[in-house]
Amino acid sequence: MNILVTGGAGFIGSALIRQLLAESPHRVVNLDKLSYAGHLDSLPGAAGHPRYAFVQADIGDAEAVRAVFREHAPDAVLHLAAETHVDRSLDDPEAFVQTNLVGSYRLLQESLRYWRGLPAARAAAFRFHQVSTDEVYGSLGATGRFREDSPYAPTSPYSASKAGADHLLRAWQHSYGLPVLLSNCSNNYGPYQFPEKLIPLMILNALAGQPLPVYGRGEHVRDWLYVDDHARALRLILERGQPGEQYNVGGGNERRNLEVVHHLCALLDELHPQGAPHARLIAFVPDRPGHDSRYALDAGKIERELGWRPQESFDSGLRKTVLWYLEHRDWCERVQGAYRRERLGLPSPGPG
Ligand SMILES: NC(=O)c1ccc[n+]([C@@H]2O[C@H](COP(=O)([O-])OP(=O)(O)OC[C@H]3O[C@@H](n4cnc5c(N)ncnc54)[C@H](O)[C@@H]3O)[C@@H](O)[C@H]2O)c1
Repeated sequence: MNILVTGGAGFIGSALIRQLLAESPHRVVNLDKLSYAGHLDSLPGAAGHPRYAFVQADIGDAEAVRAVFREHAPDAVLHLAAETHVDRSLDDPEAFVQTNLVGSYRLLQESLRYWRGLPAARAAAFRFHQVSTDEVYGSLGATGRFREDSPYAPTSPYSASKAGADHLLRAWQHSYGLPVLLSNCSNNYGPYQFPEKLIPLMILNALAGQPLPVYGRGEHVRDWLYVDDHARALRLILERGQPGEQYNVGGGNERRNLEVVHHLCALLDELHPQGAPHARLIAFVPDRPGHDSRYALDAGKIERELGWRPQESFDSGLRKTVLWYLEHRDWCERVQGAYRRERLGLPSPGPG
């Protein structure tokens, strides 16, 4: 297959492309605008690879996207490009609406235009696979897990923009027959994640001897999945998923945020004893406005129908992740640019 990956210079997209180049015969075209979160040095060895091409473009630029379809004639689109940080979505929702909603719409329209021009056999095999999040389902109480038929109830500008894109995707299938796939994944962690997200932020702050800011009392629960397991799920869904179907992808690793931070501190005490005990750096800070209390996914459908299982346990994945950040401080420095791991997404002190 010739796969057009959007957002391939980001955290999950780069893990997917590294895996596709290493473990599959597929060709990859990476379309990425290289926002603050997109970095080509997350793809070592890709430049110059015979099965890889990169195009710097915005998914909202219809003409640029059309040119990519014309030049590269993909068999599938794997759509990951997005604005992804909930705290940033509270400060600047416009960027989230533009990329996640309008950009996804433009990409869908250009995919439809291209798909309609394909010969019958290629059109039948074509897939548009959208990568979405468990956050579209909203927040859970102490029990229960989201299934594919759980109602959408997003709460943040980020999750609302992702939910909107999922609705557009379904409409493009229902109204125009575009063969689509949708997957909703829980919180990912692993190498090459931009240090604004919980796990790399905590690791880098701990290494710098800076406070580890835990929102509220750290009671919020997330279901964690190692990024390479997500990439394997995406490949499986693309190759074997039924068009029109939705698949939840979750690690079954529910943890309170404070537990995750303590786990990281224990690993750092072992692997980087200077500065131990790192847990002394934990600092409780004001909660995120509207913070969803718990997400958990039922991943039974992808397990039953496609035989997917995560290969990494939370213990083994977190250890790999800490080791990776310890060995890649230079990558962290390069990608942070002007960002200083400062607090984002707090309400501004209003007029007066
Ligand atoms: N990280 C998670 O835990 C998680 C969980 C479930 C789903 N997802 C979804 O997976 C996808 C990838 O997430 P991630 O964590 O790798 O994100 P990321 O923020 O690390 O990377 C996003 C990538 O998209 C690119 N991009 C942003 N706007 C673009 C635009 N307008 N045009 C072209 N490229 C653009 C960026 O340059 C970057 O390379 C997103 O759609 C996200 O909603 C993420």
